[in-house]
Amino acid sequence: MERTLVLLKPDALQRGLVGRILARFEEKGLKLVGLKLRQFPRATLEAHYVVHKERPFYPKLVQYMTSGPVVALVIEGKESIDVVRKLVGKTNSRQAEPGTIRGDFGMSFSNNLVHASDSAESAKHELALFFPDANEVVEWTPSTLGWLYNVEEELR
Ligand code: CMP
Repeated sequence: MERTLVLLKPDALQRGLVGRILARFEEKGLKLVGLKLRQFPRATLEAHYVVHKERPFYPKLVQYMTSGPVVALVIEGKESIDVVRKLVGKTNSRQAEPGTIRGDFGMSFSNNLVHASDSAESAKHELALFFPDANEVVEWTPSTLGWLYNVEEELR
């Protein structure tokens, strides 16, 4: 099983879409193992987006991400990094396919509702940043696990 970090950005909260976006992950069969709502410190968001530090949009990106509360999620599942990226859709919401979160709920490139880790390396770094305390991530077994996956082929 793999873990990935998802952020529901300030526009998701301001637009009242948290429940509907969370439902997309749950309905897919992904497991929620961490969830927190915070107005995160600027330093956390700066560190999170450090790879974009030299990009022209970086100051506006940090400003937007610190403009209101953010929901941070830890999502678990087989190949969850890739699965979640596909559910979220292309960065530019106008180009995102219908059926994806951005494709269904957004019209903006910058205010694109959701962030999802794009690789195993970034997931590791981002999970440590937003969930530094191991107690904030909960180990549990959904009763549906044996129906979501093929026990013989996928859960051994
Ligand atoms: P996210 O997937 O969180 O990663 C970087 C974020 O920067 C992106 O979503 C957008 O919210 C924002 N952004 C704004 N302008 C750009 C751009 N030109 N290219 C990529 N990301 C951008």
